[in-house]
Amino acid sequence: MAVDVVLGLQWGDEGKGKIVDYLADKYDIVARFQGGPNAGHTIIINDQKFVLHTIPSGVFRDNITNVIGNGVVIDPITLHKEITGLSDLGVELGDRLLVSRKAHLILPTHRLLDAASEAAKGKDKIGSTLRGIGPTYMDKTGRNGMRVGDIETDFSEKYKALKEKHLKLATLYPKVDFDLAAEEAKWMDSIEELRQLKKIDCEYYIHQALKSGKEILAEGAQGSMLDIDFGTYPFVTSSNTVTAGVCTGLGVAPQTIRDVTGITKAYCTRVGSGPFPTELDNEEGERLRKVGGEFGATTGRPRRCGWIDIPQLKYTVMVNGVTNLVITKMDVLNGFGEFYVADSYQVNGDRVKELPFNLSDEHLRPNLAKIEGWGDLDGVQDYQSLPSTLRDYVSYLEKELEVPVSMVSVGPERNELFKLS
Ligand code: GDP
Ligand code: IMO
Ligand code: MG
Repeated sequence: MAVDVVLGLQWGDEGKGKIVDYLADKYDIVARFQGGPNAGHTIIINDQKFVLHTIPSGVFRDNITNVIGNGVVIDPITLHKEITGLSDLGVELGDRLLVSRKAHLILPTHRLLDAASEAAKGKDKIGSTLRGIGPTYMDKTGRNGMRVGDIETDFSEKYKALKEKHLKLATLYPKVDFDLAAEEAKWMDSIEELRQLKKIDCEYYIHQALKSGKEILAEGAQGSMLDIDFGTYPFVTSSNTVTAGVCTGLGVAPQTIRDVTGITKAYCTRVGSGPFPTELDNEEGERLRKVGGEFGATTGRPRRCGWIDIPQLKYTVMVNGVTNLVITKMDVLNGFGEFYVADSYQVNGDRVKELPFNLSDEHLRPNLAKIEGWGDLDGVQDYQSLPSTLRDYVSYLEKELEVPVSMVSVGPERNELFKLS
């Protein structure tokens, strides 16, 4: 009947996988609308950990159809690995996984170009996950890309032409280690696996589903501050990670979108390069990283850690039209005594709550406000029994961001969360 959205309000890794898995129960379809295997969405059920990269986080709920929308870029190698990994754990997808014919394919040479272009940037590198995301979206907008639907016909000429173009481009960059022959062989094998999956025309499929009264959950990847238009450009990913991306990434009209759940950690992290006004380069940052297990789910890189940033969150709440907030990793702040938030920025001597064009250190300084902490959360059964200082922090965020908080997550397991309403 409508499309609800779950997406990240910071720089990714807000806990989207956990929240989508939790909420998926109430939906018929869970759909990814952008990004690709640069995403790593962790779900932990009864101590068993799963990390999904391309497959939507509705797969652990029976009877839910999982759609990979046209806005997603697919590396068939990663997709095949995910499907077999899930199968090994007893999760069979069969017809529960549907792939849009209009989704673009990541070729091995897209990954080669990603690595080469990052190497050329030296100290200015984006910190890409090197999954070929940027080059694949470049070919999409440059009208050179290959799509899933192309493999239903003879695609060898198209593949060869695109590969040749990539190899020419690669000569502009420093040489990088890349075993193209081996990667190509794996890729061709996985294309055969991709042929076995059920393909759809996503826009028609979703339209029909809505018409027949189905409920759809759109799952964002990355975070709003990594959005190609609204993020900390150029240190961003190559897709629209914000709510607007749902329309283009699934083929749905704006008025079908109902609730937008924005997720923020109780603090903030970023992986890769680029501005991060509240970053902590000290023991507190180290403590957040250690207690929060802040290491990338896709690349294993240590995540940069800092405090929550109100101007940044106000901005992403605004751009996404967020209707309710979920705060994750509240437990990581246990025992902090006191901690901080940036309640505004100092820009050219003025105190502001809006994001300036450039978020780097030379342009702004965050104004920090102190928040009183709490001890531990042992044995707490419901939201009202949580420490009052924790609930005060939630109320503070609701007031500052002018959006109600619907859930607070206090651990990585599926049910380690409290509903507020
Ligand atoms: P995603 O990309 O947004 O799905 O997030 P990631 O999976 O990359 O990173 C979130 C990490 O935090 C994962 O390891 C989750 O298992 C974990 N996590 C999610 N919610 C909570 C929480 O409330 N508390 C704690 N301690 N860990 C959480
Ligand atoms: P999930 O969905 C955190 C970051 C990279 C890099 C920049 C560009 O798990 O939240 P790319 O590979 O897209 O060219 O990298 O974006 N990045 C993410 N950071 N979580 C993600 O996904 C990310 N996907 C990309 O670290 O800084
Ligand atoms: Mg992640």
